[in-house]
Amino acid sequence: MKVLSGIQPSGQLHIGNYFGMMQPMITQMKSSELYVFIVDLHALTSVQDREKLSTGTLEAAADFLALGLDPDRCIFWVQSDVPEVCELTWILSTLAPMGLIERCHSYKDKVSKGIMPSHGLFSYPVLMAADILLFQADLVPVGKDQKQHLEVARDIAQKFNNQFGDTFTVPEPAISETTAIVPGLDGQKMSKSYGNTIPIFLSGKPLKKRVMAIETDATPVEDPKDPDACNLYQLLKLFATPQRMSEINDLYVNGGAAYGYLKLELLELLEDKFADARLKKTEFLSDPAELRSILAKGAEKARAKATVTLDLVRERVGLKY
Ligand code: ADP
Ligand code: TRP
Repeated sequence: MKVLSGIQPSGQLHIGNYFGMMQPMITQMKSSELYVFIVDLHALTSVQDREKLSTGTLEAAADFLALGLDPDRCIFWVQSDVPEVCELTWILSTLAPMGLIERCHSYKDKVSKGIMPSHGLFSYPVLMAADILLFQADLVPVGKDQKQHLEVARDIAQKFNNQFGDTFTVPEPAISETTAIVPGLDGQKMSKSYGNTIPIFLSGKPLKKRVMAIETDATPVEDPKDPDACNLYQLLKLFATPQRMSEINDLYVNGGAAYGYLKLELLELLEDKFADARLKKTEFLSDPAELRSILAKGAEKARAKATVTLDLVRERVGLKY
């Protein structure tokens, strides 16, 4: 089975990215043919700063490797190193119904957050469909916010297959229900663009500052609280053992949950969980030439696969004469 997913290098990766996409991908390494890539062409729709995009790309690569992605057991590359995806995007865009793309809420959401309403931002889902279909992916692990984009990819694949004959695998989304949406400090979805994140590789004082800033209500310690309505509780659930969570649950339901104390507990869990990865990330970043060489090898493997699909597509649509 082919499992594929990408991530934008548009800011520091956070624990929402980790639980929603990175960890599920790394777990798949053992059992699937795995494709992981850094979508710098997508990031161009919101990052128009050379330094920020290029260092963001190398950092995102270091993040994945530090968290345990093994480039010998998957194909790991940077999107723009496989230019075939741009040609496929154009071909697919001629089949993508305007209405379908207009219905995508991520365009309107991003524009409302101040991102420039460019044609690239509008056609973002078509580039994403090309990413997925070019590699004939069966399964795409993503957070819930990407569900609609997956529907677009499926729709375009089906349209193409109906029009030109069976060519593309119709991909399935893989969305874990337990970690579907990781809440941010303010209880909204954790997102780089909301400024409410806990970055994976933060530690020490800056990490403490973020954790202490998690918003909680003003219920007194002794009063019962609703665990499901508390973002601190939801965050603890991602890190604490089931046994400890059942104790914490009792404190919420029966009274006795002290938010300040629980925040310190979360802080310790975060420091421990990513301690090894933090060291590894520093090592990877200290040798950018080695990082680039890992990514170049990945791009070579990815291009070999991409060429096979693109050749078939060209022939199917009549671009071979
Ligand atoms: P962001 O919203 O921070 O910009 P991206 O849109 O780059 O994140 O998302 C990268 C991946 O991480 C996607 O698969 C997305 O669904 C997942 N993801 C992002 N934020 C969360 C979250 N808060 N909870 C779960 N998954 C998330
Ligand atoms: N749009 C995705 C996001 O913002 C990133 C992405 C681009 C992607 N291409 C993809 C995810 C292909 C999965 C498959 O998170």
